[in-house]
Amino acid sequence: MSKLKNPPVPFINLSTQFEGLKKEWLTSIEKIGESGAFILGTNVSEFEKEFAAYVGTKNAVAVANGTDALILSLRALNIGDGDEVITTPYTFFASAEAINHVGAKPVFVDIEPSNFNIDPAKVELAITSKTKAIIPVHLFGCPVDMTVLQELAHTHNLSIIEDCAQACGAKLDSKRVGSFGKIATFSFYPTKIIGCYGDGGMITTSDSVLVDRLHKLRNHCAVGPFIHDGIGYNSRLDEIQAALLRIKLTGIETVIAKRQRIAHLYSDHFADCDLVTPSGVAGGTHVFNLYTIRIPNRDRVKKRLMEARIGFSVCYPQPLHLQPVYRHLQYQIGDFPESERASEQCISLPIYPDMLSEQVEIVCEVIKSVL
Ligand SMILES: Cc1ncc(COP(=O)(O)O)c(C=O)c1O
Repeated sequence: MSKLKNPPVPFINLSTQFEGLKKEWLTSIEKIGESGAFILGTNVSEFEKEFAAYVGTKNAVAVANGTDALILSLRALNIGDGDEVITTPYTFFASAEAINHVGAKPVFVDIEPSNFNIDPAKVELAITSKTKAIIPVHLFGCPVDMTVLQELAHTHNLSIIEDCAQACGAKLDSKRVGSFGKIATFSFYPTKIIGCYGDGGMITTSDSVLVDRLHKLRNHCAVGPFIHDGIGYNSRLDEIQAALLRIKLTGIETVIAKRQRIAHLYSDHFADCDLVTPSGVAGGTHVFNLYTIRIPNRDRVKKRLMEARIGFSVCYPQPLHLQPVYRHLQYQIGDFPESERASEQCISLPIYPDMLSEQVEIVCEVIKSVL
């Protein structure tokens, strides 16, 4: 147990990382200020190139956030009214919300209990003549097993939009997520693997037609000064965030290694306990944006964590098919038992690159005391 006297353990700590980046970022901000170019300048275009090279696609298009990345990707694929898009009910709301934003209908498919990701073996049954795309979400940082999904997409002429918001840097064999589908989306929300100090998002693709559409969509479908040939969005990453993300991208492998170390420490501590630690997928590299366990008596664990001033998050307490907003889709309790069970049993524990081994120990001891 820690020699420190009952220190609180926050769920996340973003300020320690900031200290290490501060000097370089502030210097970039000064240069941006002096240049007078604040939107879609060289930091954005350079970051797009660097990010595409990192993920392994030909192109990347920066946008305002991960939700817009999904909406613009769906729009670029011409998905809209009357279309269906398959996704998981066990994810952050934005994965499905984006489908509604373009006028299409989300169709849910249950998850695999071992890794919380959409179960590829169950996807085919959900495909109809209206299905246009599948959005697999690499949840918590664990890559979805893409082989079956790629085969289905090929057979049924569907697009795959990978939602990589929580999994920047994750790999399947040697390929990074974001390079498997026709198009993929990332979020740079502050808590993500690389997060900005504000909002940001990215779309990766190797399809140049999609890139042209995305460039227009993110900037009001402008085809010349004040000339517009479509209904687009104001969804641009700004130079100050792009400058920060460029710095963070150079250190991403270290950040991932630190997260993996913390995750392994947790899993070692819990080795003989009556709870389920994250297991991943064969050939996959998990980046642990979240460290999520299944635990029998979650309410008691939550109470003890709160008493001990330890942060946690329940991701996600209600699967999307049972959310009030989707009542009209007429899903019932029991339709996706694995997602429902995960919602009842899962809890995400503190994890961040600079977390101390001592802090991991404190969290584990509190949880063990309840088990
Ligand atoms: C799986 C998933 N998809 C999409 C998003 C949306 O990203 P953003 O918050 O940048 O809009 C998030 C954000 O948490 C997410 O976790």
